[in-house]
Amino acid sequence: MAKDLGERVYSIFANHRSIRKFKQVEIPDRDLEMIMEAGRRAPTDASLHLWTAVRIKDRGLRRKISDLIGQEHVYTASEFFIFLADLYRLKSLLEHRGRSMGDVDYALFIFAAIDAALAAENMAIMAESLGYGICFIGGVQAAAEEIIDLLELPEKTYPLFGLVIGVPDEMPELRPRLPRSIMFHENKYRRYSSEDLDLSFRAMASYPGVDDWIRILDRYAGIDGVFVKRNKTIPELLKKQGFRLS
Ligand SMILES: Cc1cc2nc3c(=O)[nH]c(=O)nc-3n(C[C@H](O)[C@H](O)[C@H](O)COP(=O)(O)O)c2cc1C
Repeated sequence: MAKDLGERVYSIFANHRSIRKFKQVEIPDRDLEMIMEAGRRAPTDASLHLWTAVRIKDRGLRRKISDLIGQEHVYTASEFFIFLADLYRLKSLLEHRGRSMGDVDYALFIFAAIDAALAAENMAIMAESLGYGICFIGGVQAAAEEIIDLLELPEKTYPLFGLVIGVPDEMPELRPRLPRSIMFHENKYRRYSSEDLDLSFRAMASYPGVDDWIRILDRYAGIDGVFVKRNKTIPELLKKQGFRLS
């Protein structure tokens, strides 16, 4: 019985593909409730609950955010959640009982990102198990400043990523992953040989629509990569949001 369930859960992971085309239907309340409960039940560091998800219900707001980040599936999906690193609630809870928050922002920002990712992945798996399609939206970083304003985010909160959920209207090819021998090491870090690196590029060669995985690596992490700009904007915005990171 449990083994049977395990096999079915495994098949959800094995068949995961991000979905970017959705049917224009609403998710029934009970399904949505289970999806959000799956997020709420996620483990949280020291029970601190360092994340918040903002469900973007307003269609006009959805249109605005979708346009700002240039991702139409943010508009067309049935649901769109923006996950925040949230130390504001923790600070409020401490102050509510007459305490003050210590100098914790750097360490807790890392754990807030972990908490948020765990909650979001719980929701993603719950949604996929119900037959929905999902896509994470790191693209919120392209308009993080505007999103902070639009969502009226208080100090010590920061929008990390989004999650869209809906009924799939496409069945894209499975995207490859690096082999287990590269991703899992035993007892200590195993530095990569040139054969390992060649193996990695070969494993990723079937990435749909891309003739060589190096283009993706370069586009995001190369000298002029997408993350070079974010590497400047994220610390600036965090500072503006009142995080003390030094
Ligand atoms: C943190 C994170 C951010 C992502 N951001 C975006 C995004 O902004 N837009 C998008 O279309 N896909 C986004 N994705 C989806 C990835 O592109 C996708 O997971 C990856 O290419 C592997 O494809 P697969 O999920 O279909 O296996 C994101 C995924 C993660 C985990």
